[in-house]
Formats: sequence, structure tokens, C-alpha cells
Amino acid sequence: MEVLTKNLKVLNHPIISHNLAIIRDKNTDCEKFKNALKRITYALLYESTLDLPMVKKTVETPLMETTCEVFDENAQFIIAPILRAGMIFCEIAQELLPFANVHHIGMYRDEETLEPVWYYDKRKEIKEDKNKVFVLILDPMLATGNSAIDTIKNFISKGVKEENIIFMSLISSPEGVKKVSEKYRDVKIITASLDERLNSKGYIMPGLGDAGDRIYNTLD
Ligand code: URA
Repeated sequence: MEVLTKNLKVLNHPIISHNLAIIRDKNTDCEKFKNALKRITYALLYESTLDLPMVKKTVETPLMETTCEVFDENAQFIIAPILRAGMIFCEIAQELLPFANVHHIGMYRDEETLEPVWYYDKRKEIKEDKNKVFVLILDPMLATGNSAIDTIKNFISKGVKEENIIFMSLISSPEGVKKVSEKYRDVKIITASLDERLNSKGYIMPGLGDAGDRIYNTLD
């Protein structure tokens, strides 16, 4: 399927391929799964934060004064994990962006309609100057695109600019990417893999199965 967006970035790196193989393997246990996922999370976060606003700052080294670049402290950075699987990215995202606000989004997928059902929406007030608000949405699986679209819609309704929203996933389906990017052309999608397709139950193929179950060891 043709993927219609200039704003999709699929990471391509031997360390990512190697760790994706560990993650996809159904015989990988929870501990190894999480460790492999952590290694990829750093790469995803570096890519996802590339365009965040920076300002110049003068710093004195032990030898001389120099000009450095630091994150703009007048901007608001929001990390938005979609529960529960999105939490796996959150700790490292907070480690790299310690000044960010974390907005938890509780959503599960109705298994019949495949539509998202909201149950939690814990946010801090969004800054008045909306040009300076940047949102990083975290969900390991961009599958049907329905929860991504609902989450993006919610931030846009609060005034966040589409071009300041980044959706970060581990694995994406072509159907999900197409759906999100057709509705929100300026949202950036950063992922470690664009897989083949969705199956009839909305699972990504070949994928990794249910991300939440694999992360939290709740497989029956
Ligand atoms: N959510 C998952 O955890 N896995 C999929 O394949 C699709 C949605």
C-alpha cells in the first residue's frame, strides 16, 4: 500500500533491526522484551525530538565563554502516553525531557468496533501561547489509527498546532499511517517499523502481538 505522507519517518539502523527481531519473537520473555524495547526507545526519542525549539545560551566553560543551544524554557513540552502500552516509552521520555508535563491518556479498544473508549484524561493546563506547545504522543502500536486520531483531535481542540504534534510508535501499519496522515497532514509520525498490514482483528502483521500483554506479562 502506498503511504501518503512526507511526515513519516521509519528508522533504519542495525541496532533497531536486531532488537525488533528480539521483540517480535513469541518466545522472548517479558524481561528481554522490555530491555530490547528500551534500546529502541532512545533512538525513537532522539528522532522524535529533533525539531523541538531551541534557544541560544551563553555558558562559561572552565576555559572561556561559549554559546550553546538549549531547549526553549518558554515552550511547553507535553509527553502523552496512551495507556497502558504507551507507558513503556514514558520513563525514558521523561529522562530525556525532564521539564516536560506528562499527560496520561487512558483508552482501550472496543474489540467489536475497534473504536477507542476513553476512561482517563489527566492533563496539566496547556499554555496560552499555543505556538509554543509541543506534544509527543506515545503508543508502541499504530494499528487502526483510531486512538491516534482521537488523541490528536483532543489536543487540537485545546488549541495545539497540528505541526507541533509528534506521534511516536514502535511498529506501524500502513493502514494506520494512511488514516492518520490523511486526516492530520502535518502531524509527524516516527516509527521503528512499517509492517505489512492489519488483520481482521486490527492487529498489526507480522507485528508482535498485544504490546500491553507482552510488556506487562499478562498473556494467557
Ligand atoms: N495493539 C497491539 O498491542 N498490537 C497490535 O498488533 C495492534 C494493536
